[in-house]
Amino acid sequence: MKAQTFFLGAVAAMAALASGCSDDDTKPSGSTPSAYERLGGHAGLLAFVKNEVENKVLKDSDLKTYFFNQVANPIPAGHPSAAQIEECFTRLVASVVQAEQYPGAPVRDAANTNTPDFTCRDMKSSHVGLNIGDKTFDKFVGVLAGDLMGLVVADGTMLTAGHISQSEYNVLAKALTDTKSSVTTPGAPAGPGPFVPPTPSAYERLGRHQGLLALVKTEVEQKILKDTNLKTYFFNQVANPIPAGHPSAAQIEECFTRLVGLVLQAEAYPGTAVNDPANTNTPNFTCRDMASAHTGLKIGDKTFDAFVTILATDLMPLVVADGTTPKNGQITQSEFNALAKALTDTKSEIVDPNAAPGPAPFPG
Ligand code: HEM
Repeated sequence: MKAQTFFLGAVAAMAALASGCSDDDTKPSGSTPSAYERLGGHAGLLAFVKNEVENKVLKDSDLKTYFFNQVANPIPAGHPSAAQIEECFTRLVASVVQAEQYPGAPVRDAANTNTPDFTCRDMKSSHVGLNIGDKTFDKFVGVLAGDLMGLVVADGTMLTAGHISQSEYNVLAKALTDTKSSVTTPGAPAGPGPFVPPTPSAYERLGRHQGLLALVKTEVEQKILKDTNLKTYFFNQVANPIPAGHPSAAQIEECFTRLVGLVLQAEAYPGTAVNDPANTNTPNFTCRDMASAHTGLKIGDKTFDAFVTILATDLMPLVVADGTTPKNGQITQSEFNALAKALTDTKSEIVDPNAAPGPAPFPG
């Protein structure tokens, strides 16, 4: 078999490791050892995986570039060493044939000083941020599948140490390809190609929570609370003390920020209670849904539009055309559209159909 000659190294290594548990000396005659046993159990599989990682993946000019954490010194905290990846990968393969548990106990590698005891992660968490494209994934699996193919013997042939049947191969290959949607990132370069850092998300470009909060704070304090009509709706916020159950301006700003964070798929709303000791009646305020938050405020149609227009106008200068790579502080046109739509979509919950359309001061 040609493929077998090509992968002779791996096969020979595994056959040697598996020799202690060959058909002859561990099983009553007539019963075939399991694929796991034929592959040499944990040690045999680990040798196979080690050979794949070190002699194939880490020697491939594209694939090796994704392992930048593993070649950093020290490896950044939370990331596995190559040896820890190999152990995790081995457990994963062994779990496919129901012979081992994944993730199992933490994997010890004293040389990985920041994470000497690494707990294997699920495939999504392991590959997040690696920006792995479709064809890069296929190339990786192709390397492994190619070498597994070399172990396959024709159906009907006796299964001996170091060999697997076509159907056992199919099960293993399917388990690998089934991880595709967890391992790859939608929108990543299709590949195959080297690692390309992912474009920061809109949330990241806007400075994450702190950056968004600063933006919202400016809008509320410099625009909304300075607009002759709009500021009159915030009568609870200027009362002293603020009536129980109502948020302070700072608490509104935090809730608004979380709402925008939610639209950008980066934060939870309502999240935990928002603390502001200055709001003596409600120092821990839980953000409300939009209908509850605006009930009784008699907000009219055009008053709502005036509010959203202020925000949208200030977002506009951050916009770059779709297809351009947005820099820090910038958003694309379609990201702007999604944000603007999320804001305008709250209209039916916020506007009181019986209020005067406005724009007008409270009470409409
Ligand atoms: C069948 C497909 C794949 C499987 C089953 C798989 C499996 C694994 C496993 C078990 C780990 C260690 C567990 C953990 O980090 O918690 C890992 C980590 C890793 N994998 Fe994969 N992998 C696959 C595809 C790929 C591809 C296509 C690439 C890149 C081209 C890749 C790059 C990496 C890197 C760089 C790490 C370490 C991440 C870090 O530093 O945090 N993997 N993979």
